[in-house]
Amino acid sequence: MKGNKALFEVYILTGLVCLVFGATIIWYIIEFTNQKEISVKEQQKSKNIEITDVGQFKKKSMIHDELSEYGEQIVKYTSNYFYKNNEKIGNHLNCENCHIDAGTKPFAAPFIGLIKVYPLFSERLNRMESLEDRINDCFERSMNAEAIDKNSLEMKAIVAYISKLSHNVKKEGRIKGQGLVEIQIPDRKADPQHGKIIYNNQCSACHGMNGQGTKDTNNQYTYPPLWGNDTYNNGAGMAQVVTAARFIKGNMPFGTTFNKPVLTDEQAYDVAGYINSFSRPIKKENKH
Ligand code: HEC
Ligand code: HEC
Repeated sequence: MKGNKALFEVYILTGLVCLVFGATIIWYIIEFTNQKEISVKEQQKSKNIEITDVGQFKKKSMIHDELSEYGEQIVKYTSNYFYKNNEKIGNHLNCENCHIDAGTKPFAAPFIGLIKVYPLFSERLNRMESLEDRINDCFERSMNAEAIDKNSLEMKAIVAYISKLSHNVKKEGRIKGQGLVEIQIPDRKADPQHGKIIYNNQCSACHGMNGQGTKDTNNQYTYPPLWGNDTYNNGAGMAQVVTAARFIKGNMPFGTTFNKPVLTDEQAYDVAGYINSFSRPIKKENKH
């Protein structure tokens, strides 16, 4: 009887110790790994707050100014702009389809801080590239359209919007959360057969069995197309399997964040190989 009681006390004691230990760990995790978001209002109050990580940025109560607001509209609803004689120039994607949350999502190639990154040396061009040129790269490739005039209101508006998002980034050069996540590229070619299985299970519900996306009753895309005539062309970053894999790993299926990826590196690589094995618009030559 006595022995049993002692054993019981030991159990209780061990239980308590575990409880305290567990609670301490949970407290530690909450306190130290949770990125504290800093609102723009707070950022404006204190000149000392400096964003060094895209994840710190919180889009709230931005200062109003018409030019950058126009830029934000263009980034979100690009397909409503850029018509020539009533005819659409380029595809029906929006910048935001890839630069998610209007260019503020970490590791979805966000716009935050880019004012401090450009001009930047481009390996492809073998020269320095301005922010305007980089934006036009996406117009010519990701949007399958044409470069827009660097002095146009639209270009100025996009740059003004990026400037606003960069307001509290003081450091020159790259900050954490820009670009796309790094992944371990398998030492083999992407396997589209494996990619097809992942696509059908994890992607087709939104992007369609034939990669054509899904439209609403107003003929607007709810989910953008991944291949075919109305998407990024073969010169786009997304047309490169490695770039697409890095984007997908950090952002897809929709709602995925870089710190909670759904796919493994191999799955992201193979599904990127699959979507890029289909035909898409060919980039027009004679442009830069
Ligand atoms: C189909 C997807 C897609 C669309 C649509 C798209 N982009 Fe991009 N964009 C990318 C990718 C991919 C990159 C390269 C990211 C990387 O490699 O870090 C990129 C890079 C950029 C960069 C440079 C980012 C950096 O960190 O240096 C800018 C600026 C940019 N895009 C602007 C735009 C604008 C403005 C639009 C709309 C007119 C647009 N993009 C539309 C996919 C897209
Ligand atoms: C729940 C719906 C949903 C699922 C599932 C989903 N996506 Fe997406 N995907 C989206 C939406 C929405 C966007 C555009 C994001 C935006 O505009 O905010 C997008 C954008 C993209 C883009 C960039 C835009 C373009 O048209 O090229 C790629 C590439 C992509 N998804 C690939 C995938 C892959 C691969 C999978 C499966 C692993 C997947 N997606 C699963 C909804 C989804």
